[in-house]
Amino acid sequence: MGSRILVFLVVALTQVCTIPAVTNSGDFNALNALKYNWENAPPTWAGADPCGSRWEGILCTDSRVTSITLASMRLKGTLSGDISSLSELQILDLSYNTELTGTLPATIGDLKKLTSLILVGCRFSGLIPDTIGSLPQLTYLSLNSNGFIGSIPPSLGNLDKLYWLDLADNRLTGTIPVSTETTPGLDLLVHTKHFHLGLNQLSGQIPPKLFSSEMKLIHVLLDSNKLTGSIPSTLGLVQSLEVVRLDNNSLTGPVPTNINKLTNVSEMFLSNNGLNGSLPNLTGMNVLTYLDMSNNSFSPTDFPPWFSTLQSLTTLVMEKTQLQGNIPPEFFSLSNLQTVNARNNQLNGTLDIGTSPVNKLTMIDLRTNKISGFTDKAGIEKVEVILVDNPICQETGPTKSYCFVPQTEPSYSTPPNNCVAASCSDNQISSPKCECALPYTGLLQFRAPSFSNLENSTYYTVLQKSLMNSFMLHQLPVDSVALSSPRKDSSHYLVLNLQVFPVGQDRFNRTGISSIGFELSNQTFKPPPQFGPFFFIADPYLNFAGEVTGSKKSSNTGVIIGAAAGGCVLLLLLLGAGLYAHRQKKRAEKATEQNNPFAHWESNKSIGGIPQLKGARNFSFEELRKYTNNFSETNDIGSGGYGNVFKKFYMVNYVNFVLNPPDKNAR
Ligand SMILES: *[C@@H]1O[C@H](CO)[C@@H](O)[C@H](O)[C@H]1NC(C)=O
Ligand SMILES: *[C@@H]1O[C@H](CO)[C@@H](O)[C@H](O)[C@H]1NC(C)=O
Ligand SMILES: *[C@@H]1O[C@H](CO)[C@@H](O)[C@H](O)[C@H]1NC(C)=O
Ligand SMILES: *[C@@H]1O[C@H](CO)[C@@H](O)[C@H](O)[C@H]1NC(C)=O
Ligand SMILES: *[C@@H]1O[C@H](CO)[C@@H](O)[C@H](O)[C@H]1NC(C)=O
Ligand SMILES: *[C@@H]1O[C@H](CO)[C@@H](O)[C@H](O)[C@H]1NC(C)=O
Ligand SMILES: *[C@@H]1O[C@H](CO)[C@@H](O)[C@H](O)[C@H]1NC(C)=O
Ligand SMILES: *[C@@H]1O[C@H](CO)[C@@H](O)[C@H](O)[C@H]1NC(C)=O
Ligand SMILES: *[C@@H]1O[C@H](CO)[C@@H](O)[C@H](O)[C@H]1NC(C)=O
Repeated sequence: MGSRILVFLVVALTQVCTIPAVTNSGDFNALNALKYNWENAPPTWAGADPCGSRWEGILCTDSRVTSITLASMRLKGTLSGDISSLSELQILDLSYNTELTGTLPATIGDLKKLTSLILVGCRFSGLIPDTIGSLPQLTYLSLNSNGFIGSIPPSLGNLDKLYWLDLADNRLTGTIPVSTETTPGLDLLVHTKHFHLGLNQLSGQIPPKLFSSEMKLIHVLLDSNKLTGSIPSTLGLVQSLEVVRLDNNSLTGPVPTNINKLTNVSEMFLSNNGLNGSLPNLTGMNVLTYLDMSNNSFSPTDFPPWFSTLQSLTTLVMEKTQLQGNIPPEFFSLSNLQTVNARNNQLNGTLDIGTSPVNKLTMIDLRTNKISGFTDKAGIEKVEVILVDNPICQETGPTKSYCFVPQTEPSYSTPPNNCVAASCSDNQISSPKCECALPYTGLLQFRAPSFSNLENSTYYTVLQKSLMNSFMLHQLPVDSVALSSPRKDSSHYLVLNLQVFPVGQDRFNRTGISSIGFELSNQTFKPPPQFGPFFFIADPYLNFAGEVTGSKKSSNTGVIIGAAAGGCVLLLLLLGAGLYAHRQKKRAEKATEQNNPFAHWESNKSIGGIPQLKGARNFSFEELRKYTNNFSETNDIGSGGYGNVFKKFYMVNYVNFVLNPPDKNAR
């Protein structure tokens, strides 16, 4: 009898060992380690074969995991250091999981194939590991809107291929690292196009060495930090620049005169600093659309004539910049001008906005100046003029409309598309096509739009179309999108509420949500140029299609087969199964076969009714021996690391296996 069992096991092993490998076992173990550290991993994360049976958010090439995209999955927990085993991983996107906490493990530096590391809007904290600098393929790094502390690792300067660097909205301190003889620095990133470092606590000077003519930067966003010293003149060497935000720091000294060599700059913010000396002469910056130099300590100067030469200008914000004299009427004939804000200056004389048509002009805010007259004329009714706290309003009294501050808030909301909005129950919302559904929502935030007239709904319809086009192009299950409540936040970012509605059903499933999340977190979607750089912060999606809210249903079958494919368990499973089957067989001699739990398994008569585990991988005897040895050490369960976690899986699931034999239809 004993020898029969042995033969039976050998046959079984041979059988199992010839089933083709599907998911690499190291990758499988690493994914289980990730899952073990998370609540609310996708329910499809079960089964032996993440690659073959398509765990949601996982993509593989040749049995190796190459992409993990789990944006907005409501994952809760930490990121396991075991992720380092996924050595073929190229894309990791865990954005918008607001309950992902803890540090970014240093072992992330082992993922040598990683091209995109995207962790937008989570709650990671601690230091940004220095090891990120040893990811030679990294092109896209977005760690914005987390709680990272400490300084920017100088090693980032080693990221030769980096295209996008976004560390904004964290709590980073220290200086901006530049290279020395012995250490790298951000000045070496000559291929990078985006430095988004705003809303941190970076201090010290902006190092002159940071910028050079070799750079290809288009966006330099250093706003809302604690930078001191003067603006380095090397900034003027980066001719590719399109957006410059240095506002809301403690910068002092004069603005370098070569700044007007940045002739591709469209949006420039130097406001809320202590800049002094004479107002920079920006003649020649012919594509400049949005200029804000407010709240600086420039020497008093007449309203400069060169303002009238900036043909692309939509918005001039010059609050408290010591401007004096009067505004030349020709300035108002700039054909793209929308907003002029020159509050808190010494502008005087009579305000005359000229004879040419006022085109797109909607707002002139000159409150708290010395203006004594206003040449009112036909055609300017649509322009909001504010002269509160000027001699003209003190003299005439507050009877004229320009002596009041209007209380208008821009309002916009994508209207129904030739239909009547449906009245929806629960948390559902009527889509632009008037169907009730649960949209994916969040905030679209634009860091430097080129326009300021938020009343002009054309911008929103253009944006809405471009979002839809992008979703359609990438075959995402989107029916329609709605935008609402445009507003400027305290950092002068343009913020819009976004709702994305599902096609063909009333809710998105997880795949739909994570792929739309990725479309926005990876910047696959490119907004129309006038919107400038953006980021998206999603709200948690509360009710995925195909899942019962709040339920923590787990699939025994999946975990069992999963554990089996991990390696250490299969032999034991077979042993157990073998002995069980053997006993059943003996029992069957007395009783009927209907109790046999394997009756509904896929069985192969030629090997004596041994259940086949489809999708298992190849095992060498060496591996099996190793893993069974490991199994004898299961006592130290719970000490962390995937090995031990794995054993715990095994223990739990071996019991499950015996109690609930897998159903072959479960996969
Ligand atoms: C400035 O912008 C133009 C048009 O987009 C582009 O062709 C040119 O290469 C840019 N200049 C630099 C120095 O990048
Ligand atoms: C500008 O500010 C710096 C530092 O605050 C000061 O040393 C310098 O004299 C000022 N220059 C002018 C022209 O006011
Ligand atoms: C500004 O620079 C332009 C061109 O370099 C020059 O023609 C103009 O006179 C300057 N304006 C002022 C006010 O310095
Ligand atoms: C200028 O400073 C005032 C007072 O701190 C602030 O209210 C205003 O928003 C600032 N202006 C700009 C354009 O940042
Ligand atoms: C306006 O201010 C300028 C400079 O401060 C001064 O020279 C001029 O006389 C003032 N004009 C009027 C009408 O008050
Ligand atoms: C609104 O914006 C569009 C696109 O920029 C522009 O063509 C149109 O003239 C604007 N309308 C008004 C009233 O400013
Ligand atoms: C300046 O930065 C602080 C945070 O550092 C932020 O709260 C504030 O809104 C910013 N102000 C402006 C005008 O950007
Ligand atoms: C998710 O939804 C999409 C389209 O809405 C569908 O094609 C896909 O099969 C669904 N995925 C799962 C796992 O249900
Ligand atoms: C991520 O976005 C970039 C452009 O920003 C795009 O080239 C790339 O294909 C996107 N990645 C994926 C996997 O879609």
